[in-house]
Amino acid sequence: DYQKATNIRPEEHHVSREKRGKILGHGKSFKGCTIWFTGLSGAGKTSISFALEEQLVSYGIPAYSLDGDNIRYGLNKNLGFSEEDRRENIRRVAEVARLFADAGHICLCSFVSPFTVDRQMARGVHERSGLPFFEVFVDTPLAVCEQRDVKGLYQKARQGLIKSFTGIDQEYEKPEHPELVLKAAQSSIEESVEQVLGILKEHGILS
Ligand code: PPS
Ligand code: MG
Repeated sequence: DYQKATNIRPEEHHVSREKRGKILGHGKSFKGCTIWFTGLSGAGKTSISFALEEQLVSYGIPAYSLDGDNIRYGLNKNLGFSEEDRRENIRRVAEVARLFADAGHICLCSFVSPFTVDRQMARGVHERSGLPFFEVFVDTPLAVCEQRDVKGLYQKARQGLIKSFTGIDQEYEKPEHPELVLKAAQSSIEESVEQVLGILKEHGILS
């Protein structure tokens, strides 16, 4: 990756992940990780992520959701929906998620993230830091998302009022090896949340 600044070097924290985890109430082992929801607009990413966040926090587990629509009002307000801007969107969010996970949180990311290379990059950012990364494909068919059209964006995209709309005139590359696939059109939000909690238990993030 392109590194613009020169004469910089990484500085080591004095606090270990294990120590942070203990302070946060995780017990002995460190439990920070990132769950990455990907899928079409209207697939259910935000709904599942926010319901899961609510559930985890109610258990006393530090969790925080980063969502495309929200992040694009702040940190990433200077980015649009070209392939290049989506890549930069995902790169920044991956770095923020890595910090949350490093700090001992379960970071929930809900971004369309339509391109495989970008999701791979987000995974790499975590793996290089020794942090677990779970890719969750919210697999709602385009026909269902478009039929629901909760925000009216598909209609606008079909009319040509929105350009580069995922699934209409820009590609969505389906994940090939996600940790979990949620058939969100056929199950309730609660059932999807349960499935994600299941993989967190399988991987020892939750006990
Ligand atoms: S990406 O691809 O990960 O950079 O996109 P993301 O940051 O998740 O932003 C997606 C939300 O922006 C709205 N929106 C669009 N989505 C897809 N394509 C185009 N062109 C577009 N324009 C606006 C839309 O509300 C998306 O939110 P969700 O929750 O996915 O519907
Ligand atoms: Mg959303």
